[in-house]
Amino acid sequence: MDSGIAGPPAGGAAATAAAPGVLAILGASGDLTKRLLLPALYNLACDGLLPDDFAVVGMARKDLTSDAFRAQQREEIRRFHTRRSFDTDAWDWLEARLHYTAGEFADPAAYTRLRDLITTVGRGTAAADNTLLYLAISPEFFATVNEALDAAGFTRLPGRRRIIVEKPFGKDLASATALNQSLLAHWREEEIYRIDHYLGKETVQNLFAFRLANPLFAPLWNAAAIDHVQISATETVGVEGRGQYYDKTGVVRDMLQNHLLQMLAYVCMEPPASLDPDAVRDAKARLLEAVRIPTAAAVREECIRGQYGPGRKPDGTPAPGYREEPSVAPDSATETYAALTLHVDNDRWRGMPVHLRSGKSLWKRGTEIVVQFKPGSGPLATAGNLLVFHIQPHQGVEIRLLAKRPGPAFQLQAAGMRFDYADTFEASRGTGYEVLLWSALNGDPTLFSRTDFVEAGWRIMQPVLDTWKATPPTEFPNYPAGSWGPQAASALLAHSGRRWHEFLPREVLAKNPLFAAAPPVLLNTLVLALEPWAVPAGTAVVRAGDHDHRLFVVCHGRLEAVAPDGTVLGTLGDGDCFGEMALLLDQPRSATVRALTPCDLLVLDGPDYGRILADFPAAEEEFRRLAAQRR
Ligand code: BG6
Repeated sequence: MDSGIAGPPAGGAAATAAAPGVLAILGASGDLTKRLLLPALYNLACDGLLPDDFAVVGMARKDLTSDAFRAQQREEIRRFHTRRSFDTDAWDWLEARLHYTAGEFADPAAYTRLRDLITTVGRGTAAADNTLLYLAISPEFFATVNEALDAAGFTRLPGRRRIIVEKPFGKDLASATALNQSLLAHWREEEIYRIDHYLGKETVQNLFAFRLANPLFAPLWNAAAIDHVQISATETVGVEGRGQYYDKTGVVRDMLQNHLLQMLAYVCMEPPASLDPDAVRDAKARLLEAVRIPTAAAVREECIRGQYGPGRKPDGTPAPGYREEPSVAPDSATETYAALTLHVDNDRWRGMPVHLRSGKSLWKRGTEIVVQFKPGSGPLATAGNLLVFHIQPHQGVEIRLLAKRPGPAFQLQAAGMRFDYADTFEASRGTGYEVLLWSALNGDPTLFSRTDFVEAGWRIMQPVLDTWKATPPTEFPNYPAGSWGPQAASALLAHSGRRWHEFLPREVLAKNPLFAAAPPVLLNTLVLALEPWAVPAGTAVVRAGDHDHRLFVVCHGRLEAVAPDGTVLGTLGDGDCFGEMALLLDQPRSATVRALTPCDLLVLDGPDYGRILADFPAAEEEFRRLAAQRR
């Protein structure tokens, strides 16, 4: 750390205004500036977290004056700010500190002008000693721009200077190493701030707080007590016009190599001895270095890839398949989904798998980390507890427990203990960049990636990229847009008797006619009780004559009901339910229900179903009414 300013306050001291400085944004006329950087600076200004001696100097190709740049950003901020109401005073304060100089990245004179402008705006103020250079540009220009900055004397500016680099940070191990070398040829490691915007998320930073500030879990944080960890980041969006970038990239490079590995590091790293930025970054890098590098055979067995085909959006409207997206090759082999099992070969975690998955065009937007504890022993031993970190959009931490149901009989029921950000904190929603810019001004690199971390991440993912490249997929597309993803991802965990935990938002459940009128207590009970089943096409989900007591909700897919004489009684699709009569009437199944396509189902198993009917008589009536209507 080069500023002497302390890392995160241990005891909860309130944040104060950042250190004075000048933030130069190279590529200032682009999307990043208007969508994220200025809204983040504006949020900091609203919260009094920017110092008086502060200025932004933009540079880009576009021929603009400082006044024109201000006018442009004044308009954009109205669209992109994240606060409930607009604070004109805070914006005026910030706008007065915006400056601009036009320049081509290949033109040495542009850098001289930039340097002069930085000197002019900082002159006579404390900002002169602290320059941040933010490269909001495509990575292909990094090397040229770095050389030009060095040639123009930026690496020798008086006081402190730092360079902030956005992802993608390389496209593989070789290019990332080359990029690091080209940066390190001009800057010292402690001057390079590599951004991973996941580290700007409160809930991701909270993983660190949770680990270090809650001794309750520390003795259990090892492979002896934990069965496995799941880290999922699912998105409902497809590539949204970014086909040109995405088709060269894929989800492993776009999400797993950076964002998911950052979360893995926070969950599994050894507790650092101090909050010193390098102690924290050492612990994270050491963890990635302990992850076993997958062999080609391991990739074949433990890594699943997918690509979305046509399907539907969350609002039910048709969604294109990936190969139909603009700027995507019609025979593209790029993966839009990946599920990987990794192993951490150190004393703490040896023998405990970590499952990562991420994908585009899935049924739900949600990032969750699940820590599945091992089952206990003794007379009431059942499946182990879950600790769930809800990263986004729902923000919170949850522990899933079993509790005794009220009543004379000794029965257990799933229950949850939750901490919700919305109930606990008043903080207004930010962009995630506020803390990153604030930390960079303060010279605190804790939330930025160091060379060793980035390269260790690529070392883990490189065999996955290589093996997949060498064996092009034959089955793409292999999941419809709007589904839970490829079926093989379920099989990946099923081999070891595990399953992915799907967290069903209450709102999603409430959309189903069966549960529309359900009171919140019933919805909570259902959310805890429903189990996800991914069923391949052709599977008989229930068979005529069977006597089981399960209720099924179809999230995605098509099934047919067939009478014992082979007559097709009807088909079932998204949002339909089946199976409720078996319990309501306590009789064997009258028909076989078979999946016509791969299906994503939610299942309410016998005892839970029976209990819910007993506890919520109104639900029983509603189930009967809907069942009668269907028949
Ligand atoms: C970016 C990826 O880094 O992260 C995008 O390039 C992805 O493809 C995004 O959509 C996800 O970020 P968030 O904050 O919405 O989870």
